[in-house]
Amino acid sequence: MCGIVGYIGKNDTKNILLKGLKKLEYRGYDSSGIAILDDKINICKTKGKIANLEEKTKQQRLIGSIGIGHTRWATHGEPNDINSHPHFSNDKTIAVVHNGIIENYLELKENLQKQGYNFISNTDTEVIAHLYHSYYNGDMVETLCKVLKEVKGSYALCIMCEQHKDKFVVARKDSPLIIGLGEDENFVASDIPAILENTKKYYFLNDMEIGLIKKDNVTIFDMEKNIIQKEIFNVDWDISLAEKNGYDYFMLKEIFEQPLCIKKCINAKILNDDIFFENFSITNEQIENINNIHIIACGSAWHAGMVGKHIIEKTCRICVNLDIASEFRYKNPILNKNDICIIISQSGETADTLAALRLVKEKGIKVISIVNVVGSTIARESDNVLYTLAGPEIAVATTKGYSTQLAMLYMLCLKFAYVRKNITTNVFKQYIKSLQNIESYINKVLMVEDNIKNIAEKYYNIENAFIIGRGLDYCISLEASLKLKEISYIHSEAYASGELKHGSIALIEEGTVVFAILTQDDILPKAISNLKEVKARGAKIVIIAKEGYKNLDELSEDIIFIPKIDEQFMASIAIIPMQLLSYYIAIKRGCDVDMPRNLAKSVTVE
Ligand code: AGP
Repeated sequence: MCGIVGYIGKNDTKNILLKGLKKLEYRGYDSSGIAILDDKINICKTKGKIANLEEKTKQQRLIGSIGIGHTRWATHGEPNDINSHPHFSNDKTIAVVHNGIIENYLELKENLQKQGYNFISNTDTEVIAHLYHSYYNGDMVETLCKVLKEVKGSYALCIMCEQHKDKFVVARKDSPLIIGLGEDENFVASDIPAILENTKKYYFLNDMEIGLIKKDNVTIFDMEKNIIQKEIFNVDWDISLAEKNGYDYFMLKEIFEQPLCIKKCINAKILNDDIFFENFSITNEQIENINNIHIIACGSAWHAGMVGKHIIEKTCRICVNLDIASEFRYKNPILNKNDICIIISQSGETADTLAALRLVKEKGIKVISIVNVVGSTIARESDNVLYTLAGPEIAVATTKGYSTQLAMLYMLCLKFAYVRKNITTNVFKQYIKSLQNIESYINKVLMVEDNIKNIAEKYYNIENAFIIGRGLDYCISLEASLKLKEISYIHSEAYASGELKHGSIALIEEGTVVFAILTQDDILPKAISNLKEVKARGAKIVIIAKEGYKNLDELSEDIIFIPKIDEQFMASIAIIPMQLLSYYIAIKRGCDVDMPRNLAKSVTVE
């Protein structure tokens, strides 16, 4: 998704913008640009990586105390210099950067062309520059209110105006935008990592709010130009977490951060051998009366939700409906008054997930959101937010985000089971101890990284793969498959082992690679017989197995044993080898592990 940075203050505007944009590279982009206001607005923008932009800025005079910058993930108009942001009004007195989609841009464009405005790009964003110019009356906030009343769609906007050398304005709807508060300087960004090194104090803009940004103060307005008082969020993220700290890629660093992140996530909720969720509005009585739980998410968060469904149904005996957010919104879902909804999102900004949240809240259903990014839109719109405390996750392919989502789901499951008396106090306490051991077990798996790297070197040149498992192992295989696909571009398919013979086994031929997850005792014999079925048809099998499982050598020469923990928590352990396998396979294939093609870290468009 596009990235935005804005700055006003006494320091090096160009450097702050470029550094901020580089910190947003992980969001995925295809072009970038900056605009800086001196006596007039100067724009520099280009297709390609930010390194291209840095080179191009050396050939231009780009000084001034106000600037806006943008990394573009193309939605309307191909990636090229002209379609890159910022966009100018025709007289170059207005400059705009935008993240989102202006859904009625064609209608607006037609009207503006009739007024004599000339368009030079194929983007939806350019209409904002001309529309703002057409309404401009000397008051930047008032002008923006008028513009936004005509605009339909999603936006995070920064707008500079040549006549105003001491301010710029911002607004958002359905696309994230935060305001960083400095000393005699202020910042704006799409995401915290862009400006984390400059400030840890933030305003989080809500939808339909406008910010007037000056170097010595920030004022927030509603759409009727009424001033809104905002709470300042102090973010405790360590700056180093947004740096690679010696790792080749953020993804590898974040894989190795998982033990500590999980420990921090769990310990923040364990108090005197009990699980405690602060500011939790769902009472024990309501927990006892829950009939259905709806878990809604996208991508890896949905995979975590599948693990959540599996363990909650097994332990709490509550029916769990698991939905992909983009499907849930259009299925006219069946929601009852004693239901609760669990929304899962690392970024807290995923458009489909946010839309599903809003639909559920309209129906009066209580929402618990499991989110990593503090102050994100989903977090702020939920009745209860459980922060996973994983810190900034920069790699597009989530690892610690997913793992801490699992940890939070385990705790929700145990809390519900205990309150509903599905488990005794002793069992509850034993499970809590197990949770606190996850960190050490993951560390044990990370210690065999070299072995996993060697195995990856045997399989990096495959073009297809199956990843199979039964029960919880099938849930794990879904996440494992997405990891392999999204960073190595190998077409991998997660499959329930028992389902293969109902058609897809036709794809198994000599040399077909099958990764198998084996962690669940009760279905191990069946899972092994499924492996024999594919082995008999020529498959080459790589097994991720719980320690103690025997007689697997005849099925595969490549076996990665993982330490055993309570079976319902095994997803946290079994996913680690698959994360590392995917990482090293992708490296061998020369892929950009942190910024895979076509992907964005947070999908804020539908
Ligand atoms: C996972 O590696 C992907 N980056 C993607 O599937 C991601 O999990 C999905 O887009 C949901 O993002 P969210 O957790 O920020 O809502």
